[in-house]
Amino acid sequence: MTQQEEITRRRTFAVIAHPDAGKTTLTEKLLLFGGAIHVAGAVKSNKIKKGATSDFMEIERQRGISVATAVMGFEYRGCKINILDTPGHEDFAEDTYRTLTAVDSVIIVIDGAKGVEAQTRKLMEVCRMRQTPVIVFINKLDRPSKEPFDLLDEVEKELHIRVRPLAFPISNGPTFKGVYNLYEKNLSLFTSDEKLTADASTAEISDLASQELEGYIGEKFAAQLRSDVELVEGVYDQFDRDAYLRGELAPVFFGSAVNNFGVRELLECFVRIAPSPRPAPTETRQVEPAEPKMTGFVFKIHANMDPNHRDRIAFLKICSGTFERNRNYLHVRSGKQLKFSSPTAFMAEKKSVIDFAYPGDIVGLHDTGNFKIGDTFTEGEKLRFTGIPSFAPEQFRYIENADPLKFKQLAKGIDQLMDEGVAQLFTSSLNGRKIIGTVGALQFEVIQYRLEHEYNAACRWEPISIYKACWIDSDNAAQLADFKRRKHTNMAVDKHGRDVFLADTSYGLALAQENFKDIRFHFTSEF
Ligand code: G4P
Repeated sequence: MTQQEEITRRRTFAVIAHPDAGKTTLTEKLLLFGGAIHVAGAVKSNKIKKGATSDFMEIERQRGISVATAVMGFEYRGCKINILDTPGHEDFAEDTYRTLTAVDSVIIVIDGAKGVEAQTRKLMEVCRMRQTPVIVFINKLDRPSKEPFDLLDEVEKELHIRVRPLAFPISNGPTFKGVYNLYEKNLSLFTSDEKLTADASTAEISDLASQELEGYIGEKFAAQLRSDVELVEGVYDQFDRDAYLRGELAPVFFGSAVNNFGVRELLECFVRIAPSPRPAPTETRQVEPAEPKMTGFVFKIHANMDPNHRDRIAFLKICSGTFERNRNYLHVRSGKQLKFSSPTAFMAEKKSVIDFAYPGDIVGLHDTGNFKIGDTFTEGEKLRFTGIPSFAPEQFRYIENADPLKFKQLAKGIDQLMDEGVAQLFTSSLNGRKIIGTVGALQFEVIQYRLEHEYNAACRWEPISIYKACWIDSDNAAQLADFKRRKHTNMAVDKHGRDVFLADTSYGLALAQENFKDIRFHFTSEF
């Protein structure tokens, strides 16, 4: 196969959802179709069930799962599909945001009874920022759900994206009859005794006016479906793939993941419309997947579970060319040539050493602590991929050394955990104290636990009241200097030495923005 053929057949995506909407279940069904797993239950939910057991145990369990399922590859209809896993707990949302930098499209799962939830909204913001194409799967139709048109309106309004249903449900809950596939013009019938096992039976109905329809779903639902479909065709424009690829239009499917219902339709459509690897932006130019030379970036680093081996796995997304085992590549940040004797690929639960990888693929690289998120590998060109930002953290604590004899261990531990992207480190300009900022409160436990177990260091947290940290810059040097002087007690620097404003309250932030018009306040580290 030529490199172009390898590129064209790749689909790298993530399933994202608010916890409990059915992400794990849908992922598992997709893998079952791809033959990558053979039994239900093989994909473990990586949710951290708060309070169920000690959080530390849950964190370790979750880390174990997330190594095993970080990337799940499978073949379907000639396509090589890579599903990138995202953490189930919202405290790890930043991990999810970063994973979204490595995908070419996403499937958003929404619980039909709950509609659009908080986490879905946040994740969609990241997709919108990157113009990632999204497909929406409305799940749990076997349960009493909201009305389909209300759900479609809600998705449009809450997620700020136009929608186009490509399937339409016939009732829901106990009277759920099935789904009418609008672009293949067939009917998938839902019978609850097929639960958990087989595919639904499908009936070709090219003409909805045909009396056959009554035979399948009865008079009442037949009439309802006809009027619903008429409304869909009247209200929504024809599906426009280009608008989908630009991230402006989301095709919507309905189904029930746990019953394996509507999943095949979703997958069939996905392989047809979802994009193959897209060009990737760098500071200097756009990298096209078809370029002959290999380029790629690290979007995730995973520490070893075994505290005796402090090595890590760095996940490299290939952006162009062909990655080869045992070949020298430039690690752009350090300027060193490195080669990898055992790069790994991931196929569901299995991990194997590979000789080649193509754009869209994710390769696991052995790392002894030298890589950082965002690191670029090339065949010599000094590129730096952009679009892998850190997000303004929302929870803050001072970190203090709790064991004076272990100062070095603590410093090294903090440094490496920050490189992994577990949290962000700021140094206060007021007193030089170190502040850790995270997206969720659980990270503080993770850091303390891992410092102790992996670095043999002890830390103590002290409270600090900060509403938000944002990066600042300005073309008006005098105003910037004035701002930094006046806000001295609220200033800090991040680990790259950039200015960060630590706002005490939302009011304080709004006031600062109002009073210092020439200063730009950034909520991601990339600007
Ligand atoms: P998540 O990864 O998005 O957090 O969700 P997950 O797949 O773990 O699903 C959350 C719960 O919703 C699970 O039940 C799952 O079985 C259920 N579920 C998923 N899809 C459907 C569906 O189409 N219909 C219905 N009725 N339920 C669905 P649980 O009780 O939390 O876990 P489990 O004991 O079933 O594993």
